[in-house]
Amino acid sequence: MVNLLLMLGLITYSAQFKTSSISVSGEKRGNITVRCEHEDNNIDLIDLFTPSKEIEVCETEECSGRVFKEGNCDVVIKNLIFSDAGKYTLRIYYNNDQTELKYQLHIHDEISVKAGEELKMSVLVSDADKVKTNSSGEWKEVWTRDHGVQSDRMNDDNDGNLIIKSFLDSDAGTYRVLDTEGEILITVTVRGERNSGRKSTEKLDDTDEDKTEDTEHHKNWIVSVVVCLVISAVFVIVISVIKWRRQHRDHTQVPV
Ligand SMILES: *[C@@H]1O[C@H](CO)[C@@H](O)[C@H](O)[C@H]1NC(C)=O
Ligand SMILES: *[C@@H]1O[C@H](CO)[C@@H](O)[C@H](O)[C@H]1NC(C)=O
Repeated sequence: MVNLLLMLGLITYSAQFKTSSISVSGEKRGNITVRCEHEDNNIDLIDLFTPSKEIEVCETEECSGRVFKEGNCDVVIKNLIFSDAGKYTLRIYYNNDQTELKYQLHIHDEISVKAGEELKMSVLVSDADKVKTNSSGEWKEVWTRDHGVQSDRMNDDNDGNLIIKSFLDSDAGTYRVLDTEGEILITVTVRGERNSGRKSTEKLDDTDEDKTEDTEHHKNWIVSVVVCLVISAVFVIVISVIKWRRQHRDHTQVPV
């Protein structure tokens, strides 16, 4: 009974505070739909923005961007990355009127790490204020915006990564990234991977950088091929010139 009352109390309590902001949760690399909950068909325009920037919303999914409009005024963000987490405002213009909806986007991910491997999490996004983990069995702050890393298990770098150099099973747990208001931006569930039968080529990074690294590799590969072709071409030309010269010399030497 007491539990039930407490739960009811909690629900009304959170309902009161959440009416201003709609919580939306999505998995990293997955998709999120920000629903406008607007039946009106006379919508002229929608604007999506965060406290720091305006988000470009494509008219259709066929655009190159990750953000596009769906249906009346819903917005889909696909291929989610950690830095998508945070506060969003959707402004809807219709019939010479306008309305605003506020959202809190939460991104979660799960990762398995083998003992001794490096774990890199790109969770120190611009809105991140604190990181907490329950790996010790209770919630502890391991990073703050003002004081940096608070744990001797970790390092941070200038690219927004929280790094555990050599993972121990005792590092396993849930890692939560909170903004200045204590809202959860990111949740990463880290498991220790006991089975060592797997190939060690598996990616252990939990960064947003995978894509850019791939294109980087791709670029390097193309550059290598082009350089090889150019060197081969120069080689062929040089040999042709030498041959031609020799022939030419032989030819001119005959009359001599
Ligand atoms: C996300 O959306 C894209 C494009 O609509 C789709 O191809 C993909 O399967 C979706 N992914 C998930 C995890 O829902
Ligand atoms: C950490 O918290 C999650 C729930 O948020 C729970 O499932 C997990 O068992 C906890 N881990 C530890 C090590 O306490």
